[in-house]
Amino acid sequence: MIKEVYSEKETRDFAYEMAQKAEVGQVYCLDGDLGVGKTVFTKGFAEGLGIDDDITSPTFTIVNEYHSGRIPFYHFDVYRIGDEDEMFDIGFDEYVDGNGVCLIERVLYLKMQYQLKLLRICQRVLTIEKLRWKNENFST
Ligand SMILES: Nc1ncnc2c1ncn2[C@@H]1O[C@H](COP(=O)(O)OP(=O)(O)O)[C@@H](O)[C@H]1O
Ligand SMILES: [Mg+2]
Repeated sequence: MIKEVYSEKETRDFAYEMAQKAEVGQVYCLDGDLGVGKTVFTKGFAEGLGIDDDITSPTFTIVNEYHSGRIPFYHFDVYRIGDEDEMFDIGFDEYVDGNGVCLIERVLYLKMQYQLKLLRICQRVLTIEKLRWKNENFST
């Protein structure tokens, strides 16, 4: 499925609606280049779960937990994860088998073998792309 969105608000609203349908035990993966809207999406998703905390980047913590919503929300950024052992060390298996919904950013930075393993357990594999019109002026 491809969903086209033309503003930050549309991205947020789309994520919001997706989160309202999210269920315990689900895993969502989210990839896309820097600045395409992953954080915007994640904030909308958290809002859709009824979370009222500020969403901060888990780049250094790997995972941030939020418990103020309808179901627990585990927000990962696996950019700095080197191998499968490190995922084990942060307790990833417990999060996935836990009582909340997981959203994992930047899965495509993981080693191929583990990446595939992870994508197999995902209910939603989301990629955000920024498109340009063919006639857009590329000179700056
Ligand atoms: N359709 C859109 N969806 C999401 N963000 C958009 C959109 N159009 C413009 N933006 C802007 O692009 C930026 C996306 O930033 P961010 O979500 O932090 O990216 P990422 O986390 O992927 O690096 C924001 O400043 C946002 O206002
Ligand atoms: Mg971001």
